[in-house]
Amino acid sequence: MIIDCDPGVDDAVGLLLAFASPELDLKAVTTVGGNVPVEKTTRNARIIRHVAGRDDVPVHAGAARPLKREPAGAGEFHGAEGLGDLEAVEPDAPAAEGSAVEAIVRIVMEAEPTSVALAVMGPMTNLALALRAEPRLAERLGPVVVMGGARSEGGNITPSAEFNIWADPDAAAEVFASGCEMVVFGLDATHQVRGTEDRIAALEAVGNASAAIAASMLRFSQRIEREIVGWPTPDWGAPLHDPCTVAWLLKPGLFRLKPCRIEVEADSDLTRGHTAVEFRVDPASARHLWAVEADGQGVFDLITERLRGAAR
Ligand code: RIB
Ligand code: CA
Repeated sequence: MIIDCDPGVDDAVGLLLAFASPELDLKAVTTVGGNVPVEKTTRNARIIRHVAGRDDVPVHAGAARPLKREPAGAGEFHGAEGLGDLEAVEPDAPAAEGSAVEAIVRIVMEAEPTSVALAVMGPMTNLALALRAEPRLAERLGPVVVMGGARSEGGNITPSAEFNIWADPDAAAEVFASGCEMVVFGLDATHQVRGTEDRIAALEAVGNASAAIAASMLRFSQRIEREIVGWPTPDWGAPLHDPCTVAWLLKPGLFRLKPCRIEVEADSDLTRGHTAVEFRVDPASARHLWAVEADGQGVFDLITERLRGAAR
């Protein structure tokens, strides 16, 4: 598989989960500007790769800005450097030669058709550019597993849009219209996966670097949730978004999906990035699946158990 991301505290947890799961055969990590600029998301992916003891996985830098829109950031939710409170020290192992688009096209087109899954944890700019460069990707890619969008939960960056889709709605519109097979984890699902105190404590008890860094990311999100979003009940927790993509690839039974057709608003300023999720489709021919239920405890148990076996 390939992971395309904008680390980002939750991207970092998703990377740690994938790095600790060798059966995923992670061919590359590609980065995009999103939560923080692409120079920082690329450095951050290299930091997390080093923490996990997985400098064997190439990191390819991708798009610095959306297809048409001005770059947006979400530093208030991820810290100025993008990894919460973690000191962002430049890692030794460099990024790989070649752009994110080059790596995605090369890896997928050299592999058996539909054998390479792509997890997209940030704005969809790299995949949109890769599809423009090589349209055959749409039928050669395995499942495109996306964290993005919102239906019943409403938006988190505007009342009607989730950040990843809002940040580059034009890219998202092109990808959803491309014919790719897509499995989409919007806020409807990720808001059922919350970092409660007991779940973070279980990670902190593991005792290795991967689990400690994951817990540190979750602690930062916990604090932001209290300070910015709100803490309605004592046993609340911050939603854990991006790792749902990797968790589904590892243990699909943790989620309930519904066939649908997803379209993206890219014209209106008011509803920019809205994901219109239509369930009235023929299940046999639908190319999109929308996650309607998630087993939050099961996702955290999976993360904790996998990180227990991490290389570092
Ligand atoms: O809305 C949540 C998404 O936006 C996550 O991918 C998070 O990392 C941010 O990029
Ligand atoms: Ca992200």
